[in-house]
Amino acid sequence: MELAIQTQTVCTRPSETMDTELSKQGNNLVTKFHVLMRISQIYDSKNVALHQFIQESLQAINTFIGRERSLSLKIAKDDIFINGQRLRYSVEGFTSFKYLMTQWKKRLIGEVLFKEPIDERSLREFIYILMSLEEGREENAVLFTERLMESHIFSIEVNPLEVIEGEEDAIALRREDSYKVAKKVFFEAIGAVKEVITQIKGKEQADVRKLKRLVRKAVYLIMEDESILLGMTTMKNYDEYTFSHSVNVSIYSLAIGRRLGFSKKTLTELGITAMLHDIGKSKIPTEILNKPAKLNENEWNLMKNHPLAGVEIILNLKQLGEINPKMVIGIFDHHLKNDLSGYPKLFRKKSVSLFGRIIQIADSYDAMITPRVYKKIPYTPEQALAIMVRERGVHFDPILLKMFIGLVGIYPIGSLVLLDTHEIGIVYKTNPEPQWMDRPQLILVGRDEKGEAKKELVDLTETNRGGLFKRSVIKTLDPNKYHINIAKYFL
Ligand SMILES: [Fe+2]
Ligand SMILES: [Fe+2]
Repeated sequence: MELAIQTQTVCTRPSETMDTELSKQGNNLVTKFHVLMRISQIYDSKNVALHQFIQESLQAINTFIGRERSLSLKIAKDDIFINGQRLRYSVEGFTSFKYLMTQWKKRLIGEVLFKEPIDERSLREFIYILMSLEEGREENAVLFTERLMESHIFSIEVNPLEVIEGEEDAIALRREDSYKVAKKVFFEAIGAVKEVITQIKGKEQADVRKLKRLVRKAVYLIMEDESILLGMTTMKNYDEYTFSHSVNVSIYSLAIGRRLGFSKKTLTELGITAMLHDIGKSKIPTEILNKPAKLNENEWNLMKNHPLAGVEIILNLKQLGEINPKMVIGIFDHHLKNDLSGYPKLFRKKSVSLFGRIIQIADSYDAMITPRVYKKIPYTPEQALAIMVRERGVHFDPILLKMFIGLVGIYPIGSLVLLDTHEIGIVYKTNPEPQWMDRPQLILVGRDEKGEAKKELVDLTETNRGGLFKRSVIKTLDPNKYHINIAKYFL
């Protein structure tokens, strides 16, 4: 059975799929390259065991070239093109298809052109040079060509991977230090939310393009390492609550979405929805939002209208592009509560959408652990989680909540803990292994002679020679009582 790959083509490449015979040969070639690349990882280039594989591959390649004059293997987005025609991969060929695509993409190689029949030595050299390329290096295609020339191989041409819009960020991120990028994305996102809210308050047309771009970057970051962005959420900014709250809710939501196995597209939609979940509050006067005392009935009614106001705003956002109903419903649902006892009041019962349920958890957690005008001393992460667990079923989806606790850990990122060594640490990275949930990575709290934070990183799974843990948590501490600015340790 053969499957035609029906993904839309990119750029201006010919998109017609090839005939059955060509596709059979194409699959055979891809499988041959797969095997060659794999065995080159096991044997060195002089090994005789390679001989038979090389011969078989040579025959396939040269027969193809004999008929078609040349052989071009090209990767564009998620397709392989053979002599300009998109390959229909067979079920059996799928592993090879995937392997070739991944290995070439990692090395930023986009096309290999065999201009004439080749010999055994050239093929051998070609495979070993290809596999020795450093992953993510932009100059790989040039280096590859140079090395082929040094080996007097002139019949093979190598071209770099064409970066298509949307993949740019991923590749850029591979090169830069993820932590620096995360910090930049985090602060730029706060700025972008602020801009959108200011524009809406000023009755201008809000520009959400920047926000969308940043969410896309955040999606790549969260897929790479969730703890980096989660660490950013410890930077509580009292004055800019609304903006940093929106970004934090987006980060927590993305981390939950990732655990749920969402695609990049769905994650981006979720991230934007979460980023804009409180956008309806831009219609509420700041005095009410920041009122330290209890709200009167009128004010409370206005407050309760913010999910609906949010829906209205995002439906009018021009550059949001295609608005998926999930996004609109997610905003509408974010205060409904699991038993529908929240707001807005419904005329007819409905279930709370998945986006809504995710955002509810992220929203409540962030609101509880952040200082507010009317609650200057917030809950510690553990207190907040304990309250949420108590309210599960009524307020939250119990399964998602369990997942969230697994995500932030028993000691969530940013928690202050006392160790059995009498040291104090800040949870920097949770341990993804469920059995080590109580053994995160910490930054030890300490200052050098200049009074600067020392930022010594320790892992609680570390053991001494006798196999005993070097450090263990005795209890969590309230950072507000110790006047420790947690965020400083993450900068
Ligand atoms: Fe809200
Ligand atoms: Fe909120």
